[in-house]
Amino acid sequence: MRVLVTGAGGFVGAALARRLQDDAGALGAPVTELILADMAFAGAAPGPRAVHRVGSIADDTFLDSLVRASPDVVFHLASIPGGAAERDPALGTAVNLHATTRLLEQLAGLTASAGRRPPVVVFTSTVAVYGAQLPAIVDDATPLRPVMSYGAHKLMTEYHLADLSRRGLLDGRSVRLPGIVARPAQAGGHVSAFMSNIFHALAAGEHFTCPVSAAATCWWMSRERCVDNLLHIARMPAPAQRTWPMPVLRLSIGELVDALARIYGEDRRALVRYEPVEAVESVFGRQPPLDDRLPRALGLRDDGDVEGLIRRALA
Ligand SMILES: NC(=O)c1ccc[n+]([C@@H]2O[C@H](COP(=O)([O-])OP(=O)(O)OC[C@H]3O[C@@H](n4cnc5c(N)ncnc54)[C@H](O)[C@@H]3O)[C@@H](O)[C@H]2O)c1
Repeated sequence: MRVLVTGAGGFVGAALARRLQDDAGALGAPVTELILADMAFAGAAPGPRAVHRVGSIADDTFLDSLVRASPDVVFHLASIPGGAAERDPALGTAVNLHATTRLLEQLAGLTASAGRRPPVVVFTSTVAVYGAQLPAIVDDATPLRPVMSYGAHKLMTEYHLADLSRRGLLDGRSVRLPGIVARPAQAGGHVSAFMSNIFHALAAGEHFTCPVSAAATCWWMSRERCVDNLLHIARMPAPAQRTWPMPVLRLSIGELVDALARIYGEDRRALVRYEPVEAVESVFGRQPPLDDRLPRALGLRDDGDVEGLIRRALA
């Protein structure tokens, strides 16, 4: 089985790439060729059956060379984060919309011309497709009104992938990721960075200025659980519905701080100063219950409880 991972040098992609190399049964069938693509990679060279391909998917020649390998499974994770895409809309559009569309079209073209089985395409969409001012519960009937170009481009890709799947050219599976934690602290253009930084700061006993209130509710998942779920999505039979959210743990910041204080010491509470920023709280801090019955029925899982989330997030 030939596997392509775009964005394989990123936070989730690097963990997915590691798992694909370390666990021979990760996809149910042996991976004979693992193509890991990104603009750059930190750390060691990949293992024997894996190859690093360095380049931009917005470069047609580079993209064509990835598709020519005729992958059976594609994890498409390469993306410009929301904050960075707002600051540089041309870059966001080039990668998150145009290059992504071209990737899907090229893969679909391969199916049509070679008469081969449509490749499984796992696309990491985002809960940002729902936008702000969410209803009392988010479910399939919730209007999709993204408030950032990042969410709009992810939503367009969900539709495009579902349509190419309907036409039998791809076997697409779009999953809307919640905040995946705990990303190492860095200037990465992620508006949701506070969701990771709070773990690192309190574990290390450092002060943390929180851009949402203690009552703010967020949807959480650890990177390890996210990778478990992405692999499960690639392995499962073609689903009737092509897009779903992840099952999530819904926790307030206050509940998370309570749990971190239980684990790392009561003094941690005093380290948090709340300075809510409306633009952040409205998108990431008012997340209501999420109807995740469908992804659960498909076999996807959350982190179980807040302690499980913290343990995996800081592993
Ligand atoms: N981490 C989260 O909380 C979260 C939440 C919702 C959705 N997602 C989605 O999940 C995926 C993975 O997230 P992540 O946290 O690992 O993101 P990330 O920003 O850490 O990684 C994305 C990778 O894409 C690469 N990339 C960007 N432009 C590229 C280009 N032109 N060509 C090739 N590679 C390019 C980057 O170099 C980076 O390594 C992304 O698609 C993201 O939108 C993540």
